Amino acid sequence: GSSAAFNLAFLAMYDPGDRVAIAAPGYPAYRNIMAALGIEIVEIELGSDAYLHADHLKSAHREKPLKGVLFASPANPTGAVIPADELSALVKTADELGIAVISDEIYHRLAYAAPDVTALACGAGVTVINSFSKYYCMTGWRIGWMVLPDELVRPVERIAQSLYISPPELSQVAAVEAFNATQELEAVKARYAWNRDLLMKRLPELGFLLAAPMDGAFYAFCDVTRHTNDSMAFARKMLAEAHVAATPGRDFDPLQGHRTMRFSYAGSHDDMVEALARIESWLK
Ligand SMILES: Cc1ncc(COP(=O)(O)O)c(C=O)c1O
Repeated sequence: GSSAAFNLAFLAMYDPGDRVAIAAPGYPAYRNIMAALGIEIVEIELGSDAYLHADHLKSAHREKPLKGVLFASPANPTGAVIPADELSALVKTADELGIAVISDEIYHRLAYAAPDVTALACGAGVTVINSFSKYYCMTGWRIGWMVLPDELVRPVERIAQSLYISPPELSQVAAVEAFNATQELEAVKARYAWNRDLLMKRLPELGFLLAAPMDGAFYAFCDVTRHTNDSMAFARKMLAEAHVAATPGRDFDPLQGHRTMRFSYAGSHDDMVEALARIESWLK
């Protein structure tokens, strides 16, 4: 999956001590893998539109030069999609400043409000990471792909041969077939969209204010401060008492995560209806 691709990209592109920017909130494995490799992590706190802007990059680079930046659009945990013109400005700025870009496009094809443009449309020098785990619903098959600038192809191949040899052959065959399953996959996406409509309306009514626009992926990222100042304890209690699981924000954002929680709407519509009913009666 893309998890393997992060190791390959980081090893090929960055050295220990290099400064690499990521967004907070963001997918926790970025931070964890970089820390394991001795990369200096520069977490950039996002504003209410929940995506990285060119200006964020400029000011982090001004403080001390960055070697790289990694972003996802649509993003986990926010679901935010970087608008096409902002993405283009971000990639152009990185290019001008000599910052190597990694675009995690694992939630591509799961955007509901605006198109999810690939970073490759904004510059050929970017590294794109993608996977069959989300749109293609093949999480357990551990298969994904990378699009690399020419000069990185051989280094990544050489590291991959030593770390992984290859993805399982069965997964490779199944993944190629998945490209022909568009009808089924669009039906799954329509279910996500249906769930999204429900959560977008009901979560704020229950006091979970949307902390990011629900533009893509399958997450609602909520400000939970009307209920608690400790989202970890709140999530634990909700799981134990209402039997509804949601992810506390701390893993995504060590600084502000106590104020937020991520709800996934990847399940069935009936499960969403049931979960909301349980949360409502639990809160009374
Ligand atoms: C933004 C993001 N990138 C990467 C991954 C890991 O995906 P994979 O299953 O392809 O290793 C996830 C999984 O949740 C994710 O949310």
